[in-house]
Amino acid sequence: MTGDPILEVSNLHTHFSTDRGLIRSVNGVSLSIGRGRTLGVVGESGSGKTVLARSIMGLLPSANVYRSGSVVFEDVDLTKMDPKALRKLFGARIAMVFQDPMTALNPVMRVGHQITESLRLHLHMSRHDARESAVALLTQVGIPSPEMALTQFPGQLSGGMRQRVMIAVALACSPRLLLADEPTTGLDATVQAQVLDLLQDLQHERHMAMILVTHDIGVVASRADVIAVMYAGRIVEIAPAKSLFTAPMMPYTYGLLNSIPKITTASHTRLTSIPGRPPDPLAVGSGCEFAPRCAYARDRCIDQRPPLAPSRTPGHKFACWYPLDGQKVLESHPFLQPRDRESKRR
Ligand SMILES: Nc1ncnc2c1ncn2[C@@H]1O[C@H](COP(=O)(O)OP(=O)(O)OP(=O)(O)O)[C@@H](O)[C@H]1O
Ligand code: SF4
Ligand SMILES: [Mg+2]
Repeated sequence: MTGDPILEVSNLHTHFSTDRGLIRSVNGVSLSIGRGRTLGVVGESGSGKTVLARSIMGLLPSANVYRSGSVVFEDVDLTKMDPKALRKLFGARIAMVFQDPMTALNPVMRVGHQITESLRLHLHMSRHDARESAVALLTQVGIPSPEMALTQFPGQLSGGMRQRVMIAVALACSPRLLLADEPTTGLDATVQAQVLDLLQDLQHERHMAMILVTHDIGVVASRADVIAVMYAGRIVEIAPAKSLFTAPMMPYTYGLLNSIPKITTASHTRLTSIPGRPPDPLAVGSGCEFAPRCAYARDRCIDQRPPLAPSRTPGHKFACWYPLDGQKVLESHPFLQPRDRESKRR
């Protein structure tokens, strides 16, 4: 599906031991991503997207966490690397844009220092060269006065500018793989589109692979090559973007697609959302986790969990006993149309 893979995740589990019991955040995820390609990971809040991204990076709390499975990046299993070697890899070969820039950026360190530190550490640049590169990077990510931004603290920047700084920090050493976890959280729709377009342009220029994590399936529709849908810590459907949008197999995916506003939808029309709530991560069941919310559920769904199995379409897999079987639901969905990129830029 992905050509020459840069990352292959196999049967990844991540569980947290808490006072309330064992929280099973990621349950047997397998995926791969090709060089220069984009994998979108979508799902409702709490479905395990951030834990999956952090688990791939090995950025988890050191206590009370159980991780198993393998994460092979450029032929090396990251789960078997020692922390020192991992630190060398992160920033240089793999980088992450975090969901919350205010916690990811150091609030008491000037923006310039946060970028040059990484360049000096990983690429052994001189102070002068690192500063020049930092200015070039801030220009590239669309910061209007890069020289001034270097001297500022993150709290002095607007939300959109902070996201751009986060991207500059992540891209400083030209990583081969970027994990972008909700990189536009909290931004208004126009700035969100600008930041996502910018990320995509930089990705293409650098032939960088990207895992784009979002709760909004509309965000990845025209930006991802392949989309993985997560539910209760599992991938329940994964497919090339067009195939997922035009012929979803799993009722949950169908529900997510229906919750996207369409251009043709009258402004006063209420959006459909998926009724019910995601399952309690402490509960262990043997059936399909979506069953309590699924209009198609039958006895078998309650008793047996469906495996992620291939459909007739190449690269399309789904986990459902009674799939929708290729209903042509959203062939003309506006999110699949080429976007007018220029009009979204400042
Ligand atoms: N450090 C932790 N200890 C215990 N449970 C955790 C921890 N981190 C996450 N979880 C739990 O794991 C589950 C998945 O959380 P995660 O943050 O990955 O969701 P998400 O899909 O990223 O949601 P959102 O869209 O809100 O960001 C949740 O039930 C969450 O409470
Ligand atoms: S396996 Fe059953 S409950 Fe689960 S999504 Fe399919 S039809 Fe619905
Ligand atoms: Mg998250």
